[in-house]
Amino acid sequence: MTEELSPIDRAKRAAARCAADEIENGMRVGLGTGSTAAWMVRRLGERVHDEGLRIRGVPTSTRTADLAREAGIEVITLDEATWLDVTIDGADEFDPGLDLIKGGGGALLREKIVATASDRMIVIADAAKAVTTLGAFALPVEIVPFGWQTTRRLVVELLGGMDVQGRDATLREAGARPFVTDEGHYILDLHLGRIGDPQALSLALNQVPGVVESGLFLNICDLVIVGFEDGRVERRARATGGN
Ligand code: 5RP
Repeated sequence: MTEELSPIDRAKRAAARCAADEIENGMRVGLGTGSTAAWMVRRLGERVHDEGLRIRGVPTSTRTADLAREAGIEVITLDEATWLDVTIDGADEFDPGLDLIKGGGGALLREKIVATASDRMIVIADAAKAVTTLGAFALPVEIVPFGWQTTRRLVVELLGGMDVQGRDATLREAGARPFVTDEGHYILDLHLGRIGDPQALSLALNQVPGVVESGLFLNICDLVIVGFEDGRVERRARATGGN
């Protein structure tokens, strides 16, 4: 049966396959979360099956863990791996310096821990994720459920002193209930429009009691592989490192 993919899925698949094809025998690989990362996990599974590729994967969510096992990839915990050769993950936005907004899929905390514990982070994305300034995509912030309304108030107050355009913070929901992450936390989505100083915002958010982590991934990504609907890919490397 011929696979009918939307243009955006063709772009995501192109980026994902390019990144998955860089993985070599023996590597410990961080497996990201989201629709683009799912293409990468499926491609790695194909390579395990067809080429006998030997890898171990550390998934960034229960969703990805299930998919990786189905695809035939050996799944281990980060504690078993201790350190990873590379993490491949999607992103909601990336800027020219390869700073990112992540967490649209609600897995930002595990994603950041896993990416930080990797020699390299490769982001796979369609071209629509490229921005000149971060912030059009609502910034996810993972918070503890205890006292979440107070935490939200403190976060909104903090935004008052930040170089951002909007200051609204909404609790992410799943149906009529709060969305709960794999770590049992809630997510606030910050509708900022434009983030003038991501570094200052990231540091300030992490000072708020109740905030666990933000979806700002700064100085973590080494390479973005951008996919296009015609199957082409473009590589954008961090000036000081990735290739
Ligand atoms: C999940 C993420 C995803 O990588 C991000 O939301 C991109 O998802 P997609 O590939 O489906 O566009 O950060 O927490």
